[in-house]
Amino acid sequence: MIFGGLLLAWATSPSDKVLVAHRGASAYRPEHTLVSYQLAIEQGADFVEQDLQITRDGKLVCLHDSTLERTTNVEEVFPDRFREEVLNGSIHRRWYVSDFTLAEVKQLDAGSWFDVRFAGERVPTFREAIELVKGKAGLYPETKSPEDYREMGLSMEALLVEDLKAFGLDRAEADPSTPVIVQSFSAESLKKLRNELQSDLPLVFLLSNREGAEWTGFEQLRRIAEFASGIGPAKGLIEVDPGLVERAHRAGLTVTPYTFRSSSVSEPYTSVAGEMEHFLYNFGVDAVFTDNPDLFPRNE
Ligand code: G3P
Ligand code: CA
Repeated sequence: MIFGGLLLAWATSPSDKVLVAHRGASAYRPEHTLVSYQLAIEQGADFVEQDLQITRDGKLVCLHDSTLERTTNVEEVFPDRFREEVLNGSIHRRWYVSDFTLAEVKQLDAGSWFDVRFAGERVPTFREAIELVKGKAGLYPETKSPEDYREMGLSMEALLVEDLKAFGLDRAEADPSTPVIVQSFSAESLKKLRNELQSDLPLVFLLSNREGAEWTGFEQLRRIAEFASGIGPAKGLIEVDPGLVERAHRAGLTVTPYTFRSSSVSEPYTSVAGEMEHFLYNFGVDAVFTDNPDLFPRNE
């Protein structure tokens, strides 16, 4: 709970609230590209988020989806390498990251889908993300679909620790200029990090609108505090139950809701800055995930 404690300490004055750049500065740059991470740093992010997936040859890459077709041109480059899946009665073609080697993933354009100006951007490895961010901001990796990868014989948690270790960042507070917090929707993934891999990094348990509600009682929060230092609730969970923030703090947990974005401001707010301000200074959350790092209301 070392860094969790630090986060709570940061939150004692308005200027100490923590800004997590969600997929980089993803309102302005293609998500999970190095240009998106770079802009997030320039816009003052305390942490830059990386969602993690694993390639066929076992390399961690930064990508939100487990498939490549939404944010790359994989359909053009590898037109036959899809799997067909039936979803709601219709057939969909999916290009899974885990079916491609890193060398193949690196052939893909990860920028044009967002804007032609970013043509040629690549899917970064986690190591490339660390190299860019180290010394300038913190890292906030998320283990995505770890159970699916485990079924393939791959341990995302072990790969994560290995990559961090290569940069001397696998222990809490190893580099004060590059704090690391690991997040996951999977309690098992966080427990694996804490118990099996003996990681002392701060861990944040993500709570979705759908399944997270069953974790928001005080006793459940105390159970979370046995394996994590904070929660990352969907912001709707706080909107309908603002007392969640106080209960989580009482259980010793930091609170970092997601996701604040100018492209979808929730009612009754009229701007994403105003929405973040309300959560930070009225609801009392410690930090926020936002696509718009430049609009973070730091209130110096
Ligand atoms: O990790 C916080 C938030 O990013 C969770 O949602 O789907 O954007 O990874 P998602
Ligand atoms: Ca995420």
